[in-house]
Order: sequence, then C-alpha cells, then structure tokens
Amino acid sequence: MTDKNSIQNDSPKRTKLRKIGVFTSGGDAPGMNAAIRAVTRAAIANKLKVVGIRRGYQGMIEGDFVPMKSADVSGIIQLGGTILRTARSNEFRTSEGRQKAWQQLQKAGIDAVVVIGGDGSFTGALTMSQEYNISFVGIPATIDNDMYGTDYTIGYETALNSVVCAVDKIRDTAVSHGRIFIVEVMGREAGLLALNSGIACGAEVILIPESKEQHDELKRFLEKGYKNRDRSGIIMVAEGDEPGGALNIAEQVRKEHPDLDVRVSILGHIQRGGSPTANDRVNATKMGVAAVDALLDDQKSIMIGLDNGKIVQVPFNKAVKLNHSIDCNLLDIQKMLNI
Ligand code: F6P
Repeated sequence: MTDKNSIQNDSPKRTKLRKIGVFTSGGDAPGMNAAIRAVTRAAIANKLKVVGIRRGYQGMIEGDFVPMKSADVSGIIQLGGTILRTARSNEFRTSEGRQKAWQQLQKAGIDAVVVIGGDGSFTGALTMSQEYNISFVGIPATIDNDMYGTDYTIGYETALNSVVCAVDKIRDTAVSHGRIFIVEVMGREAGLLALNSGIACGAEVILIPESKEQHDELKRFLEKGYKNRDRSGIIMVAEGDEPGGALNIAEQVRKEHPDLDVRVSILGHIQRGGSPTANDRVNATKMGVAAVDALLDDQKSIMIGLDNGKIVQVPFNKAVKLNHSIDCNLLDIQKMLNI
C-alpha cells in the first residue's frame, strides 16, 4: 500500500513466508467473516497456505486448527459472527499459555498470523511477538470503534445501525406513553456508539464515559426539558459511563423524580449480531488484503487502519496504548438542537 500515511516498505517480498494463520479474538463483530474471506483469498492468491485458528487464543493454545481453502470462505461475506468462532482466553495471559500457543504454531508450520479483533487481542499478539519469533498483523474489529490510529473498526457501522433501528422502535412507545427511556448501549470504556446513535435518534441526553458534564445535562432535562407527558425522552447511556449504566441511572432518577414514568432498555448483545453493512464488508475486505500484503512485506506487530479512507499501518504498541479520541463537539450540537 502506498499512500502517504502508510509506512513505506520497498524491500523485496520475502520468500520465507509459506503458511499463515488467521483467527478472530475477543468480542465478535459483524464483518469479521468478510475479513477472514479476504485474508484467506489474498493469501492463496499470493501462493501462501492458510490455516484457520478456531476460538481465538484458546484455540491457538489447544491447536484447534483447520486448513482454509478458497471454497471454505465462500458464501460468508454477508454473515454476522465469525465462522472461526472467538473467545476471551485467560490462559493466554499467562506465559505458560503463550508458550503452548507458540509450540502449536511451530508444530503446524505457521510462520505469521493475522489477528482480527480489538485492543485486548492486539496486546496479546504484541506480548507473544516480543517473546517468540512470530509476526502478527492485526485487523481492527470491534463494535466500539475505540482503537487508536484508525478511523474505523469493523462492525461499528452495523452495530450503529442496529442501535438506531432499536431506538426508533423504543421512541414509538415512549411517545405513546410520554415516557422517559434510559437506553444502554455497549461500550465498556468507549462512548462512540452511544454518541453517534444518540445523535441519529435525536436523543434528549447522551451519557458517555468521555464527558462528565453530560450529567448536568441530564439534570437540566429532568428539571426543565421534560415538561410534561406530551413529550418523550430518550437518554442514551454507554455501559461504561459513570455512575454505572442504565439501571443505576434509572434508580437515581426515580429517587429524585418519583413522579416521572421511567423505563430502562438494555440493548445488550443484539448490537453484536446481524449481517454486516456494505461499508463493513468493504472495509473488512480492504483491510484483509492489506494485512496479507503487510506480512508479505515482512511487517510485524502492526495494525492495519483506515485514515480518511486510506489504508495505514499503525504499530501495535501505539494502537493499544493510546486512546481513540472522540468528537465532543457532537455533544454541543446535540445540546443546541434539543430545544
Ligand atoms: O468490546 C466489544 C464489546 O461488545 C463491548 O462493547 C462490551 O463491553 C463487551 O464487548 C462485552 O463483552 P462480552 O460479550 O464478553 O460480555
């Protein structure tokens, strides 16, 4: 890849690379299958053998490997979830676990790996590549869109649309009853999903971990904004927001305003499922091809990212240590429009 933001590497393609592994790890995200397909087929097109590692790092430790042919990734681009399955592995956090994983990779003759996941998955890859001679390239896939160094993570747009669809329906019943709904969306430490879905649904208040001031907004809305039952109210809250999600906020609101008709809706894992949007499929495809390209160029411990639509390569240690910034101006816009 040759745009100005990417790390340039004009060295000849290495010949040593023969067999790569590909796996998905951490929370699944719609579009992971499109990435698996792109990695598999781009590798085959470059005469590499491909092994699918099932169930994330846990499967790596246990040697749960399957050979991947072009036909194995046929008809999966439109599927949610991940055909390779996924896991959060505690064993891989231990040096014994990583040693077992390394032995399994060696036994299978895998000399480089594409990891599709979020920052926990890349932290694992970085640690292992520092301990053993193995190259990892990452493809960011998480509905949270919270990775530093990329504008986009696979699955985010599909999840955003799922939230918007659900909240539009909640609004219908909220208006009918003149109720206030506190809607909790995913995002342990990241509020982007709550922020953008809140804007898209015309939420009256948006509570995200990145902005404490929003709690004054909630107060203002409950005391002045929500005048009577001719109005409805949608309060979007990211699960990671202090003081701790929709149930806690509802308890607080009910205590302070016993007259208000408040309901809670926690959208939960519905946000992680479903057929990926066109953008998620296209981005997953671009990133999958770029990941194989990076391995062929002898890159190691980098994440493939998108910067204004262009492929970039971001060192893992930056991607996992730095925070993705959030456009807090959107909160001002939301405030201005909610009059
Ligand atoms: O990181 C993706 C994510 O969906 C977060 O938004 C959420 O906090 C977490 O995963 C939930 O993980 P699990 O499915 O393991 O409970």
